[in-house]
Amino acid sequence: MQKLVIEGERRLCGELTVQGAKNSALPLLAACLLADGESVLHNCPQLSDVCSACRILGCLGCECRLEDHTVTVRADAPCGCCVPDELMREMRSSIVFLGAVLGRVGECSLSFPGGCELGPRPIDMHLNALRRMGAEIKECHGVLRCTCPEGLHGAKTALSFPSVGATENIMLAAVLADGVTVIRNAAREPEICDLAGFLRGCGARIKGDGSDTITIEGVTSLHGCEYTVMPDRIVAATMMAAAAAAGGELALIGARSGDLDAVIPVFEEMGCRIYPYSDRLFVTRSLPLKAVRTVRTMPYPGFPTDAQAVVMAALAKAKGTSIIVENIFENRYRHVDELIRMGAVIKTEGKVAVIDGAPRLYGAKVRAAELRGGAALAVAALAAEGVTELTGVRYIDRGYERLEAQLTAAGASVKRLLE
Ligand code: EPZ
Repeated sequence: MQKLVIEGERRLCGELTVQGAKNSALPLLAACLLADGESVLHNCPQLSDVCSACRILGCLGCECRLEDHTVTVRADAPCGCCVPDELMREMRSSIVFLGAVLGRVGECSLSFPGGCELGPRPIDMHLNALRRMGAEIKECHGVLRCTCPEGLHGAKTALSFPSVGATENIMLAAVLADGVTVIRNAAREPEICDLAGFLRGCGARIKGDGSDTITIEGVTSLHGCEYTVMPDRIVAATMMAAAAAAGGELALIGARSGDLDAVIPVFEEMGCRIYPYSDRLFVTRSLPLKAVRTVRTMPYPGFPTDAQAVVMAALAKAKGTSIIVENIFENRYRHVDELIRMGAVIKTEGKVAVIDGAPRLYGAKVRAAELRGGAALAVAALAAEGVTELTGVRYIDRGYERLEAQLTAAGASVKRLLE
């Protein structure tokens, strides 16, 4: 087991390259299964979830090669349709393999996915939409057995909530289905557009991604293509929070300001200066932080739930009272008790968190319980007096490539040690 030892109160200064987006790379890897021949994905982050996705592709009969930040997948004739239970449990996003395997092989057997504990994470919308497309799905002892006796056909689906995973699964199943699929109330996240961009590069016919209605006209086959994964907007938001918490100036190479339209104004309200220049986004914080008006997490283009924890960590030392309302997941305040150990003054009730900015945070022994909450503790540690020992690093490693090296290069003191 490893821990991060963070000595706080050092201003950050320097350039950081924003890694490729985990939440885009994973569905793209699933999508590779649908394309004949070779697909090459550049800018894949080096994360355990990416390795798990490659292992799933291997189990399904694909050849998969990982070199630096490039993953090459050959999916000429996938021969499997079962994803082993231990791989399904490793990450929540393994559920996107359902749409891809069904689309390519016509049957699929997998267990319910694992992932971070953010509250109940049902997949009813995924399954309902696939059923409308002709899939027969039986749930038995935690295993989903899916067949398509007549093949998959296009269908019209209106999602009751713009679920990212359900939208991805429907797109993956629809690209090779017979006829036209229409997804209404579709997720509009940039990662959806990245998936559509890759699939179009493979020969798929998709329109409307980025809007609430996506139309997919099934084709008979897809071919592999070369594609570059988009930069990770949540890693960019985390680095903005780090600069806000510690003070200083960071240049975030590759960060796309357009993907951060709901996030940037919150940091500006805190007193940060943020501006894009060339291929980078500059974040400067020189004055003390101020509290902000209520931040409500919403589906894109609203404020992202994945940036809620890191923003809270920066607000923990901002002058005044801030309020956050978490509308996407039921249990996404698990970092709060740990922040309180560091001197933060935060109360939660249901969806609402009230943050009374504390004049000081103190280094403490804290434990990450999930990915973004873990990153938030690292952000708070950068602003805290003294040394923080942060355990549960394996959660942080699921979404951040070498976080300690990135922060250290910008002037922070972060060491990875054995627990
Ligand atoms: C994706 O999860 C991301 N994961 C999450 O990132 C992110 O927090 C989330 O979208 C919201 O932006 C990946 O892309 C791998 P949803 P996903 O389906 O697809 C409910 C991170 O930290 N729902 O949009 O699972 C669900 O319970 C992670 O990187 C149903 O009720 O999210 C939740 O309340 C964590 N039924 C809401 O919708 C369903 O069938 C949003 O979930 C599906 C979802």
